[in-house]
Amino acid sequence: MEIKATNITWHAGVITAEDREKLLKQKGVVIWLTGLSGAGKSTIARELEKRLYDMGHLSYVLDGDNIRHGLNRNLGFSPEDRKENIRRISEVAKLFADAGVITITAFISPYREDRDNARKLLPEGKFVEVYVKCPLEKCEERDVKGLYKKARAGEIKEFTGISAPYEPPVNPELVIDTDKLSLDESVEMLLNYLNQKGIIA
Ligand code: PPS
Repeated sequence: MEIKATNITWHAGVITAEDREKLLKQKGVVIWLTGLSGAGKSTIARELEKRLYDMGHLSYVLDGDNIRHGLNRNLGFSPEDRKENIRRISEVAKLFADAGVITITAFISPYREDRDNARKLLPEGKFVEVYVKCPLEKCEERDVKGLYKKARAGEIKEFTGISAPYEPPVNPELVIDTDKLSLDESVEMLLNYLNQKGIIA
């Protein structure tokens, strides 16, 4: 990416990220859900957001389909566009986490390098990579949006898992096997992790 922003100065605020965390009684983190289309990223993200809300915690979901309606509406699904999609989301997620929010992202984010770059933007321990794991055959069988059928018919080009790659995480903080776990069990796993790490109390 060509960097065009020059002659710019960073202004630090008077209130720090730690101040905001004290106010909100939680840590600002990014919970990065990655996985195939139909693996269950959005469903888990929504349920986690609801459970956190009921517990009195502020979280916010950044979701692939939604972000592509606005901020990233000028991006498609070529490797370059996916890279830019994830780069922008990584920066947005970083800002949300800095604001003290438990930020839940639900993007396929198929490239390892892009996810690693997202991790690098955050302080140690504040990026939680979660592999929402489900075999391709199962995702295809679910085909909630009918996209796999279209991809197989050649109506959608560069479809992840069919005609575009997905690189599974090598060392994620969590693996959620949605082929085996219920939605409740999946969300419990995440809540336990957040508790254990002192992100929520
Ligand atoms: S990426 O790869 O991270 O940039 O993708 P993302 O922003 O998460 O968007 C994925 C959603 O877009 C729909 N869709 C496609 N997915 C994969 N490949 C192709 N070619 C494609 N075209 C449209 C699809 O609904 C994805 O949503 P999810 O929630 O993952 O099923």
